[in-house]
Amino acid sequence: MRHPWGVESTPDPDRVPMVRRDTRLDSYVDRYAARTHGMTASAIRALFAVANRPEVVSLAGGMPNIADLPLDVVGSALQDLVVGRGLQAMQYGSGQGEQEIREAICEVMRLEGISAHPDDVTVTVGSQQALDLVTRIFCDPGDVVLCEAPSYVGALGVFRSFQCEVAHVAMDDQGLLPEALREAVLALRAAGRSVKFVYTIPSFHNPAGVTQSLERREAILAVAEETDLLVIEDNPYGLLGFDADPIPAIRSLSDDRVVYLGTFSKTFAPGFRIGWVLAPHAVREKLVLAQESATLCPPTFSQFAITAYLRQHDWQGQIKVFAEMYRERRDAMLAGLAAEMPAGVTWTVPAGGFYVWLTLPPGLDSQAMLPRAVTARVAYVPGTAFYADGFGSRHLRLSYCFPTPERILEGTRRLGEVLAYETELLSTFGSPLSPPHAAELPSHLAPGTNSQ
Ligand SMILES: Cc1ncc(COP(=O)(O)O)c(C=O)c1O
Repeated sequence: MRHPWGVESTPDPDRVPMVRRDTRLDSYVDRYAARTHGMTASAIRALFAVANRPEVVSLAGGMPNIADLPLDVVGSALQDLVVGRGLQAMQYGSGQGEQEIREAICEVMRLEGISAHPDDVTVTVGSQQALDLVTRIFCDPGDVVLCEAPSYVGALGVFRSFQCEVAHVAMDDQGLLPEALREAVLALRAAGRSVKFVYTIPSFHNPAGVTQSLERREAILAVAEETDLLVIEDNPYGLLGFDADPIPAIRSLSDDRVVYLGTFSKTFAPGFRIGWVLAPHAVREKLVLAQESATLCPPTFSQFAITAYLRQHDWQGQIKVFAEMYRERRDAMLAGLAAEMPAGVTWTVPAGGFYVWLTLPPGLDSQAMLPRAVTARVAYVPGTAFYADGFGSRHLRLSYCFPTPERILEGTRRLGEVLAYETELLSTFGSPLSPPHAAELPSHLAPGTNSQ
């Protein structure tokens, strides 16, 4: 028998083949907790199988491109760690996270104007777990969470799994609109709803690619103060700007109104799974209890490894290397879009991060179009993945972080052909189905207006 990697082997006559007894029928179907009903495979995960085929240019996934990491430096830091402090690094640790990394995290946050004490930091398994813990401690079933329209698909999944209701708030090319936020809070409260927090991604938004100016951040915070609303600030991309210094985080403007989430996934490597929450003291205490019940402690080895990397490597220089590489890819995508998109398609221009948000002419549906795009060997994420309420079909997210500039140009060329064909079909035959009209909705549930 020939292995896929070419090594000859002889079948072992004593080996009992493992047979996976699978059935489509789930005999536990009546026993699952109600909270599992909202758990569905994300549109992105469902796409991965096809999008990862080599012939497809995937502009879908948002995987950080870590090819520029100095693996020799990381490798020798890990070796020193195991030899020098291995027994400690491989032991259980503190539920809040190790003191050393919490100190280092405060240094990282200083770059965005945050002055914090290590005691107020809780280490998490990526910022994804931070989202889970924050929702766990604040939200009961039926509570309302305010999110941008559109919002990060992984956060929507967490809110759904805790049986929260998501109300989307409109954005423009500077992100969340403070007045729309104000209206949403007041309308929901007037309707007797319990609004727990607003979840926002101020810098290089996933998926919209836009960034809140400092004035916008101040205005959002002012609305939060006025309406006594908690702000959850999720900031994985803030240090990956292409042009200017980072804009101060919302948390830098207020110590007690904001719970801030950070991560090493985009500025170092996602495989260590280390993120954090910076929260007011009482909230931090609850977070640590929630963390202990979820994991006992976040992974000690990863925390030691990241601390060693931060100490031994020019990590800020490395972030600049990453940002330059992403800028080149962003430029390729913008050039490709400018050259290939038919009239009527518009897109955002990100100043950092990984994503461009496309708006299609009325009548086109990015979800219905996806199989045609994949047949044309290009993949993206349909906009509906980023809304909790079924909107977004006129939008799609393109990621430029992973493919080479050449592949990005090829991808936009293929997408341009698909869209040209779709727009032509539309002008010949008209739209098969009109999506529900935004004007029929109460304003606090209206879909995003970012169509720049
Ligand atoms: C906005 C946002 N928040 C959170 C995450 C989760 O990141 P991680 O769990 O790797 O820190 C991501 C990942 O793409 C993201 O884009």
